[in-house]
Amino acid sequence: MGDLDRAIERLRRAGRITILTGAGVSAASGIPTFRGDDGLWKKVRAETIATPEAFQHDPKFVWEWYDWRRSVILDAKPNAAHDVLGRWTRERAGVTVIAQNVDGLHERAGAERLIRLHGSIWHVRCWARCSAGREDWLDRTVPQPRLPPLCPHCGAIVRPGVVWFGEPLDRGVLAEATLAAEECDVFLTVGTSSVVYPAAGLVHHAKHQGAFTIEINPDATEASAQVDLAVRGKAEEVLPALDRGLLSRE
Ligand code: OAD
Repeated sequence: MGDLDRAIERLRRAGRITILTGAGVSAASGIPTFRGDDGLWKKVRAETIATPEAFQHDPKFVWEWYDWRRSVILDAKPNAAHDVLGRWTRERAGVTVIAQNVDGLHERAGAERLIRLHGSIWHVRCWARCSAGREDWLDRTVPQPRLPPLCPHCGAIVRPGVVWFGEPLDRGVLAEATLAAEECDVFLTVGTSSVVYPAAGLVHHAKHQGAFTIEINPDATEASAQVDLAVRGKAEEVLPALDRGLLSRE
């Protein structure tokens, strides 16, 4: 039996399926990944953009980068990988997607049981955490008329609603993701290099609790040696192939 057929058999028999996604899932939508040869972190160092210190030091510079990324994402459309995952969450009980991506393409593809581990590029919040601006709010303005944008409540600067390096994940969100990893029968890790923790640790939680673990990625990653099955291929091709296989065996 080939790798694809083995994956289909496991998915077919699974009660609960949890899927961790990364930048590779949005690559076919034209959104660059972080660590490939053309990756975002090859052009600019993550520490100069994606840390609270970088933002404190030069909020305008950080916002120029986010404003550019928001414009790239605005022009992008969900691809076949998002479409399949969105449909699985809607049509099959027990499917949960855990997204590291902040682009919102899973939501646009109609994903229902979705845990956003690293926040959303379409949300912002008050950097001063004023009492009225403590929570994130949606701001889809691209380009921003003023960089950095200002809090409508207190006039302080506003930050992107994403998780930066050195920041803890929201405890409730991480607990939800950990539970989804620990309670599933099959855990899929798709389009992620598996180097950023705690996200990269979820596949280990899943395996430890007895889940069958599958990686979908064109290249080997830090997780490849640990998963039960590595399917080498692109998310936008492998996920539709799995979907077709599942439909044909219903
Ligand atoms: P990376 O850029 O580190 O990894 C992207 C992965 O996608 C690589 O393993 C590629 O081989 C794979 N890939 C490329 N094209 C693909 C395709 N068409 N189908 C499937 N896989 C493909 O991105 P992430 O692992 O998502 O965090 O990065 C994790 C976190 O690091 C991000 O959420 C972000 C980043 O810095 C924060 O900003 C906190």
